[in-house]
Amino acid sequence: MTAAALAYPGTSSQDVAFDAADFQRVRALIRTKAGIDLHPGKQNMVYGRLSRRLRETRHGSFRDYLDALERTGGDEWQEFINCLTTNLTSFFREPHHFELLAAELKKTPATARRIWSCAASTGEEPYSIAMTAAESGASVKIDASDIDTRVLAQARAGVYAMENVSSLGAERLRCFFQRGTGAHEGKARVKAELRERVSFRAFNLLASGWDARDYDAVFCRNVMIYFDRPTQRQVLERLHGALRPGGLLYAGHSENFSEHRDLFVLTGKTVYRRAG
Ligand SMILES: C[S@@+](CC[C@H](N)C(=O)[O-])C[C@H]1O[C@@H](n2cnc3c(N)ncnc32)[C@H](O)[C@@H]1O
Repeated sequence: MTAAALAYPGTSSQDVAFDAADFQRVRALIRTKAGIDLHPGKQNMVYGRLSRRLRETRHGSFRDYLDALERTGGDEWQEFINCLTTNLTSFFREPHHFELLAAELKKTPATARRIWSCAASTGEEPYSIAMTAAESGASVKIDASDIDTRVLAQARAGVYAMENVSSLGAERLRCFFQRGTGAHEGKARVKAELRERVSFRAFNLLASGWDARDYDAVFCRNVMIYFDRPTQRQVLERLHGALRPGGLLYAGHSENFSEHRDLFVLTGKTVYRRAG
């Protein structure tokens, strides 16, 4: 992108200069904070998302904003991260995973299990796990986390547009959702019984000192694609430690961890069993 005309908050122009040096700086910062390896082609996306934040914080240039971020940071780091994550998700995304999960749960439904959805975004993934557990008659405690606090707030609320839940079918809608009326027309909320099965918290997969332990399964889907290979390896080592022996790691459709056979062995379509 060529540098656009520099403007200041309060002026009518939307344009703020964003040059290659600004983009490189953003790339380095988000990589250090969240592990996200922004592709060079993402410059327009970064401009779109961060220029909004510049206006909200009344900074006149990317340099000012980034200087302030690095100087005083604080809560603004979380806002910066929230701006730069990609949160695309849906209910029962990659349905074969939920078929496998149901089969696993039905083997011994009375056994108490723990499952972690570690890049849960707006909650569709952990609620799909909860629905699968409820339909299988299994006792499952579900932990869900994400680095992005804005999507976590949406996940906790469990409110979705009807068009995003209609594909679940009439039976699941009746069992697990309450349809909104009046001001909430066109929306549906996950029923309290299902919401209570899921505990949400903010968690950065890059953080040191993981306390995650003894999970029977971890859903770590469509997040590792944003990490470089050394970061993927680091996270995989920690996920290995977070799973029980024989526990399952559910990965995204374009994530392949076959080269890490010392940690995980492929056992189904993008599903790995903890090695050792
Ligand atoms: C594309 S969504 C995937 C959502 C869901 N797992 C799925 O497959 O539908 C990726 C999610 O990873 C989260 N994420 C990115 N970097 C992260 C990190 N370092 N730690 C935890 N979550 C992260 C993002 O905030 C985003 O919500």
